[in-house]
Amino acid sequence: MHQKIIIEGGRKLKGEVTVSGAKNAALKLMAASIILGDTCELYNVPELTDVYTMTNLLRTLGAEVDYNEEEQKVTINAAEIDNVEAHYDFVSTMRASFIVLGALLGRFHEAKVALPGGCSIGERRIDFHIKGLEALGAQVKIEGGYVIAKAKKLTGSKIYLDRPSVGATENIMLASVLAEGSTILSNAAQEPEIIDLANFLNAMGCDISGAGTSEIIINGVRQRDLNPLSYTTIPDRVEAGTYIAAIIATRGKAVIRNIFPNHLSAVTSKVIEMGGKITVLDPFSIEVSFCGKLNGVNIVTQPYPGFPTDLQSPFISALVQAEGVSIVTENIYENRFRQLGELRRMGADVQQESNKAIIKGVRQLTGAQVIATDLRAGAALIIAGLCADGVSEVKDIYHVDRGYEKIVEKFSNLGANIKRIELDETNLDVKINNIDEPLF
Ligand code: EPU
Repeated sequence: MHQKIIIEGGRKLKGEVTVSGAKNAALKLMAASIILGDTCELYNVPELTDVYTMTNLLRTLGAEVDYNEEEQKVTINAAEIDNVEAHYDFVSTMRASFIVLGALLGRFHEAKVALPGGCSIGERRIDFHIKGLEALGAQVKIEGGYVIAKAKKLTGSKIYLDRPSVGATENIMLASVLAEGSTILSNAAQEPEIIDLANFLNAMGCDISGAGTSEIIINGVRQRDLNPLSYTTIPDRVEAGTYIAAIIATRGKAVIRNIFPNHLSAVTSKVIEMGGKITVLDPFSIEVSFCGKLNGVNIVTQPYPGFPTDLQSPFISALVQAEGVSIVTENIYENRFRQLGELRRMGADVQQESNKAIIKGVRQLTGAQVIATDLRAGAALIIAGLCADGVSEVKDIYHVDRGYEKIVEKFSNLGANIKRIELDETNLDVKINNIDEPLF
């Protein structure tokens, strides 16, 4: 069923919001359960379409997976995995599926995983993944749209990444935890999700040190020495950052709960530069408030601990209404400004010049019909709608449901006028225009 989100803008967000478990950690922990070959329980797993996709992928491999949405708990038993092929249907809808490559190769010395290809935000190559797996002793070839990796034996190695790729760091970690000897991975990604994956693997008996720094050391262990475990996923720093951007953009004041504030240091520094205030209430909560004028700022996206690429679009939605000129430089993806054209439909003055968005603040956005082109662009358009004068409609909301749990409910609880509408696919306009009740 097609859905869209309708927003009547103009309300300042207030109250509190609780952040869900991190999508980009939970998906990797689920894939890493392949290494164990026994039962693991994962808590704080958000109810997202991507989590269902990973659940189904693991089932096709032969794992038993139970997802209890109410408890936000996934139980995986990977003992009976008898298939090492991840079909294109999964990888094409969710790139995070590609991470099963390292886990299958690590445990079974064999994997066949569909090649993800590019996506709407960029080319997203996998050359570092392949070089890393080859350095561990795997033969890797690409055939019929699949990456086929095989190894008689995996042996620890020294691997240097040309750039700190999150996915390559994860695939190499997963392929090397059961290898013979030690792997030293240099220029590794330092994201909190990498630390979470290392902590999860160590809790089952693997031997990884240095996660969260640029050098990770993985000492191979025997699979039979691993143990079942229960583990809780870290909070979603990108979801938290999206609500922070929305609170600032609407000039509101609200508390954000279930976060690790230190994961958001680059983001909260920018908020302060923009004229916002951040108060740490306790180790897992902050209050975000705004008073006075909203300043334009420059933002440069970088690997962690720099400003995250995943949050540049939500922040652009705040900056389009800030005083002066802001420049946002995107350094991770080639094509992550696709929402700018939609923002212009809402009255924003924003131009793209190569990898920079040049933003001249305007007084007021106006509500419009817009289309979400990807997950974070969709969130950005919702934020713009919350600030705009009048009613906005954000279409193709399935992108947003991949990564934001209960987004409409959470914004409603913060006082927004927002609702989700199911469309009759055979006659979209009629259903909307004939809606019985008033929209708000
Ligand atoms: N890259 C290469 N070669 C490689 C691997 C990466 O050139 O072998 C390039 C990519 O093309 C990209 C850059 O390096 O331009 C960064 O890619 P990286 O591998 O770090 O990203 P990823 O693992 O594909 C994860 C998140 C993304 C997030 C990035 C960066 C998941 C499932 N995805 O992607 O999240 O933007 O790290 O932090 O963890 C999102 O949640 O909306 C999202 C896109």
